[in-house]
Amino acid sequence: MRSKVMSAEAAAELIECGSAVGMSGFTGSGYPKAVPTALAQRIDAKHAAGRPFRVKVWTGASTGPELDGALAKVDAIEFRLPYNSDPTVRDKINRGAMDYIDMHLSQVAPVAWQGFLGPLDTAVIECTAIKEDGSLVPSTSVGNNKTWLDRARQIIIEVNNWQNTDLEGMHDIYYGTALPPNRVPIPLTRADDRIGQTTLRCDPNKVVAVVETHAPDRNLPFTQPDEVAYKIAGHIIEFLRHEVAKGRLPAELLPIQSGVGNIPNAVLTGLLDAPFENMTSYTEVVQDGMLDLLDTGKLRMASATAFSLSPDAAQKLNADISRYRNKIILRPQEISNHPEVVRRLGCLAMNGLIEADIYGNVNSTHVMGSRIQNGIGGSGDFARNAYVSIFMTPSTAKGGKISAIVPHASHVDHITQDVQVIVTEYGLADLRGLSPKQRAELIINNCAHPDYRPMLIDYYQRAKQHSFGMHAPTLLDEALSWHQRYIDSGTMMA
Ligand code: COA
Repeated sequence: MRSKVMSAEAAAELIECGSAVGMSGFTGSGYPKAVPTALAQRIDAKHAAGRPFRVKVWTGASTGPELDGALAKVDAIEFRLPYNSDPTVRDKINRGAMDYIDMHLSQVAPVAWQGFLGPLDTAVIECTAIKEDGSLVPSTSVGNNKTWLDRARQIIIEVNNWQNTDLEGMHDIYYGTALPPNRVPIPLTRADDRIGQTTLRCDPNKVVAVVETHAPDRNLPFTQPDEVAYKIAGHIIEFLRHEVAKGRLPAELLPIQSGVGNIPNAVLTGLLDAPFENMTSYTEVVQDGMLDLLDTGKLRMASATAFSLSPDAAQKLNADISRYRNKIILRPQEISNHPEVVRRLGCLAMNGLIEADIYGNVNSTHVMGSRIQNGIGGSGDFARNAYVSIFMTPSTAKGGKISAIVPHASHVDHITQDVQVIVTEYGLADLRGLSPKQRAELIINNCAHPDYRPMLIDYYQRAKQHSFGMHAPTLLDEALSWHQRYIDSGTMMA
């Protein structure tokens, strides 16, 4: 391995035009910091010389400005999967200048193994150390690293010595996955079960470069939760208390899955003062609120595939990692998000949404039906299989010009069957056991913004008179008119 140590620029020379590159990285953590930037410089120079050069980029989820940002700015990505939150990449996708597949995050590794994505030419993986046996100590995310290392023709390793080497021991890499007909049950029955090994296997014969780096993860600060976020969090915590009181949830709740963003983080913060002890979490990312819950002992342990921390929280983790090592388990994303495990554990899924319609279909991804915001991420993995699936949002977006509750969703990621609770700052709609018409009344009355409520009631009443069918009354010629009005006039308000 020592003989393969080289500069990022030399390593980037080993990546060919048109090739598929599987990079580490998940929600801004554990992504390679030097080789993608060097590759972007190389591609920029090629473009300046009039030579075409683009690559296909596969990751775990979103990465950082040194990866997606740097490559997209020089138009170096022709194809991207499975999740993105970088603004330049988003812009290129929405202008039609980059192909993108928005995938369930648990399905990326199996689909790669099934061969549907084509061959993987190069893996570029950040780790904290290379062990004597050639295995890699993962850094702050695991994501799809196991699959990229196994599938790639050649491997470039970034060893980041900014990351604390005491991370070793936190990870649980399970090698028991196989394709049908040889697939077997995943032997994980509790959120804190360890079923794998602490390091990633890596064939030394495939390693073509080792690059040393010293750089922190992206780590964006969280905006302080506002009044709307606190109100949403309050409704959810009240709901959970009610479910415990009714005997439908145990006193310590069931393993919590908390989505990305400020509002899910506000819910975690709200749990600090809630009367639940000894909680566990089986989720995708560990956010600031989860570290706080671990500190107080209210959360016993957290299982995830990555960290997604503010700079302050990352500092806290880095300074005291041995204290957290036994309380946090990082797994490959095909396990952290596995539908079989989510269903078995009975996770409480809590995710954000872009819009929901009056029947409870949820759009998590596409603004006005066609512009991608980020991607479905793990929300589908968890929502369909959760014990209770909760979706939350402010009741309006863009300063009130958009209603988050609409007559008809302009794109659907989560069908009404997978959406059991919808929450806005105005209230919570518990949709379990309700028919479409009962759902509509509850969502309009409990969740819609008062400014849009009369318009929704008017639409719904007319739909009940004139719809083709009366199971889920819909006026087809009007159902998406709110979206068209926004596109035409800049507001959904009539
Ligand atoms: N119409 C248009 N834009 C909307 C909108 C709507 N109905 N709802 C939200 N937005 C915009 C916001 O205005 C904001 O835009 P900006 O960045 O230009 O200000 C952006 O979407 C993010 O919305 P915000 O209110 O800040 O919420 P968030 O950061 O919690 O994100 C989602 C909400 C839905 C975009 C986010 O939760 C997501 O990407 N979900 C899908 C993936 C997922 O659930 N992952 C977790 C699974 S483990």
